[in-house]
Amino acid sequence: MKIAVSGKGGVGKTLIAGGLAYAFSKKGLKTIAIDADPSPNLALTLGLSPEEANKILPISENKALIEQILDIQAFIASPLRWMTLFTIFLSKPLLA
Ligand SMILES: Nc1ncnc2c1ncn2[C@@H]1O[C@H](COP(=O)(O)OP(=O)(O)O)[C@@H](O)[C@H]1O
Ligand SMILES: [Mg+2]
Repeated sequence: MKIAVSGKGGVGKTLIAGGLAYAFSKKGLKTIAIDADPSPNLALTLGLSPEEANKILPISENKALIEQILDIQAFIASPLRWMTLFTIFLSKPLLA
């Protein structure tokens, strides 16, 4: 299930998103809460301290993650890697 909350500022979107994320995680559901607001405050709504919230790095500034994604894209795009994987797959018996 994916839920996106959008609309006018200051009407309680973050409060509701935070409440839903908290309730889902309390129920044991794997929950990812994404704050795409240019001035994010979901972390504070969820109860993180300002020090903890300040440690959160926006995805656009997370160079390590971006490089990892570019590596994966390069891996997927590389025909040589696909041929290698295919060769490995063919060399393994399907049933032991
Ligand atoms: N139902 C409510 N009753 C009282 N205060 C609220 C309610 N919903 C939100 N607020 C308060 O209003 C402010 C803006 O809410 P927020 O969820 O950040 O709005 P949005 O994300 O839509 O901009 C926050 O300080 C929040 O605590
Ligand atoms: Mg908000």
